[in-house]
Amino acid sequence: MRIMVTGGAGFIGSHVTDAYLAAGHEVLVLDALWEHGGGRRQNVPPRALFMHMDIRDESITRIFQEFKPEIVSHHAAQASVAIGSRDPIYDAQVNVVGLLNILENAVRHGVQKIIYASSGAIFGTPERLPMNETTPQRPESPYGITKMVGEHYLRFFQHERGLDFTSLRYGNVYGPRQDPNGEAGVIAIFIGRFLAKEGVRIDSDGEQTRDYVYVRDVAAANLAALERGGGGMYCIGTNKRTSVNKIYKELCRVSGFEAPVEQAPKRQGDARDAQFDCALAKKELGWSPGTELSDGIRETYEYFKDALPLSR
Ligand SMILES: NC(=O)c1ccc[n+]([C@@H]2O[C@H](COP(=O)([O-])OP(=O)(O)OC[C@H]3O[C@@H](n4cnc5c(N)ncnc54)[C@H](O)[C@@H]3O)[C@@H](O)[C@H]2O)c1
Repeated sequence: MRIMVTGGAGFIGSHVTDAYLAAGHEVLVLDALWEHGGGRRQNVPPRALFMHMDIRDESITRIFQEFKPEIVSHHAAQASVAIGSRDPIYDAQVNVVGLLNILENAVRHGVQKIIYASSGAIFGTPERLPMNETTPQRPESPYGITKMVGEHYLRFFQHERGLDFTSLRYGNVYGPRQDPNGEAGVIAIFIGRFLAKEGVRIDSDGEQTRDYVYVRDVAAANLAALERGGGGMYCIGTNKRTSVNKIYKELCRVSGFEAPVEQAPKRQGDARDAQFDCALAKKELGWSPGTELSDGIRETYEYFKDALPLSR
């Protein structure tokens, strides 16, 4: 198939691109290499076509005309909760208006399906864990709001314009190529500190948890969504809660270095726990997370050990 991956120079999108290429598909990566995002030109594999373009750009229509994608895997986004909260207008311009530019062009140019990178942020702080597809959506950040709104537009475009979709609601994704400098997940940030033989900051008592899902498993969900899950919205996690303390201990073991810990107060607005029940993704996409956290952390550590001095 011909697949356009928006945001394909970024952390997750580049692994999705790898998975599509490995399965024999033709891929065009469209990415603006946004200065505050994790996109890097060198993340795009040589076998993929690359178009340096903003998803809000009107001339995107030319790319649809020429490449004629059958599928769009939409990973381009203003993906920072902090930036979205400081600048909700920019957040909505990229995550809502940019998405609409993609959807309008997709309909106009005969795309069959959109695969959408959604987020656990659409749920806010749920009353019950694990979260699943029936958990009420009460996003607590502009980023969570725009990701939720995106899903509503997908439903509208399917119903009114016949454009199929699958929405994948990711937990905390980690793995090689994650930007360790921004507000990326704690795993990438900690690995950067461990490799520099520096201390780490642990907020609160470190027992707060997240559902960490390995990026190659996320790419596998994107592969499954090519054929399955039409009109569906799925939680993509591991159904496990992992504390910051556990990640710290795992990294001490893998690196042989006991990084000094600075305790910091609880961060305002941070949910205490997260966990995603992925039973529906298993049933309808045939997907389940295959990577144990200890293996994923080891692979990520090994990657950064080789790549970090060269990556900036
Ligand atoms: N990392 C996570 O844990 C996580 C969790 C849930 C959802 N997501 C979603 O997954 C997707 C990928 O996230 P990521 O962590 O790989 O982030 P990332 O920053 O590495 O990737 C996003 C990519 O989008 C590109 N981009 C940003 N604005 C653009 C624009 N206006 N036009 C074209 N390209 C633009 C960036 O250059 C970057 O390459 C995002 O949609 C994000 O919201 C990520």
